[in-house]
Amino acid sequence: MSHTCRIELDGKTHDFPIIQGTENERAIDISALRDRTNYITLDDGYGNTGSCKSAITYIDGDQGILRYRGIPIEQLAENSTFTETAWLVIWGRLPTQEELTRFSHRLTQNEMMHESLRSHFQGFPPNAPPMAILSAMINAMSCYEPEMMDIEDETTLERAAARIISKVRTVAAASYKMSIGQPLMYPHPEYKYCENFLHMMFSLPYREYIPSPEVARALNLFLILHADHEQNCSTSTVRMVASSQANMFASCAAGVCALWGPLHGGANVAVIEMLEFIRQSGMNVAEYVSRVKAKDTKLRLMGFGHRVYKNFDPRSKILKAASDKMLAKMNISDPLLDIALELEAVALQDPYFVERKLYPNVDFYSGIILRAMGIPVNMFTVMFAMGRIPGWIANWKELHDDPKSRIYRPRQIYTGNTIGDYTPIEQR
Ligand code: CMC
Repeated sequence: MSHTCRIELDGKTHDFPIIQGTENERAIDISALRDRTNYITLDDGYGNTGSCKSAITYIDGDQGILRYRGIPIEQLAENSTFTETAWLVIWGRLPTQEELTRFSHRLTQNEMMHESLRSHFQGFPPNAPPMAILSAMINAMSCYEPEMMDIEDETTLERAAARIISKVRTVAAASYKMSIGQPLMYPHPEYKYCENFLHMMFSLPYREYIPSPEVARALNLFLILHADHEQNCSTSTVRMVASSQANMFASCAAGVCALWGPLHGGANVAVIEMLEFIRQSGMNVAEYVSRVKAKDTKLRLMGFGHRVYKNFDPRSKILKAASDKMLAKMNISDPLLDIALELEAVALQDPYFVERKLYPNVDFYSGIILRAMGIPVNMFTVMFAMGRIPGWIANWKELHDDPKSRIYRPRQIYTGNTIGDYTPIEQR
């Protein structure tokens, strides 16, 4: 393999180093390109641009491989908990029993919101989107612990990470309670992470909800599968904000905003809306697929396609198997699941989807499993955010710990007006 890439520009040749990752992915290191040639590269949507080197998550989109810190997602889904996976993603290896106990203890210590933070919820209208509340509240919670905004040592970092991971769960459940006009529930100190979230979502002051082991396990699985996914839109946003040396809370709050859109985390809501639309319209699945293919609107088959996976998203396989098992165990039959299965079967045989390598992604089945848990649709993207927080923190930490990190500052090719004079208003 050549170790350099030769580029010829304006009659001159320039050599740029080739760098290789631990899984043999290769890149041309063009960091000196502009200095040496006065050219920049243009890569709309960044499909060919590596924005950083990272040791957190590995994806092979052609083979449908996903690993956190080297461990296959299938093994984590089978054996781990969200708390343990969060630690792995952030600190780079599986925790010892002592480390896991300490971290779990920190999560419990941080589960309550500051009492005055509870009053912030009153400022939102009852139908406020929970993603808006979540983003605002992550920034608001940092104001109560200003020392966490300036992380100088590992202990403060662990405390800040535990604080965000734990409180996001409390804020998420509270935003749901507010939206349905029920009293906010306090966390239960005896419950583990997932049970506690379900308790705060579904208990009432006079009626305690006891989460079933199946539901708690399904939630653990959902959160593990969402814990990180390398340089996607929201994680790149977190790194972008962090590169200005903004604090961890501000960076994660920005991640929530980026995740909100329907082409990213919001797709799990869009999938359910699409399945509901097909069910209620009485349209058959093939007809809906034809509409998508006609491309006369912006209509897409939501939950299909991925920038990186050109094969099955491994997370969707795991979620599909888990939702089948859970629905059978809970004796639930969901008509939307039947439509989803039909849609998948039609799309996987259709040349439009086959040629473009469009396969079901994580959001295709996540809505089905969340519905079975009783989670309302407007909370789906918040659930994704809860899961992704460890990945955002890990990326924030990686950048923060790198002595060579620089502020992210892309260039552009200007296509606007060339120079013109200011015209006084009466002459326009
Ligand atoms: N339905 C119909 N056509 C599609 C779809 C789809 N879901 N996805 C891509 N295409 C077509 C697209 O129209 C284009 O066709 P052509 O070559 O004729 O112009 C081709 O496939 C390539 O599409 P693209 O927009 O260049 O692909 P991208 O890498 O920019 O977009 C994506 C990736 C995930 C935004 C896109 O596949 C999509 O919009 N999917 C639906 C939304 C969705 O499920 N998002 C969740 C992604 S997974 C979770 C996450 O990361 O947040």
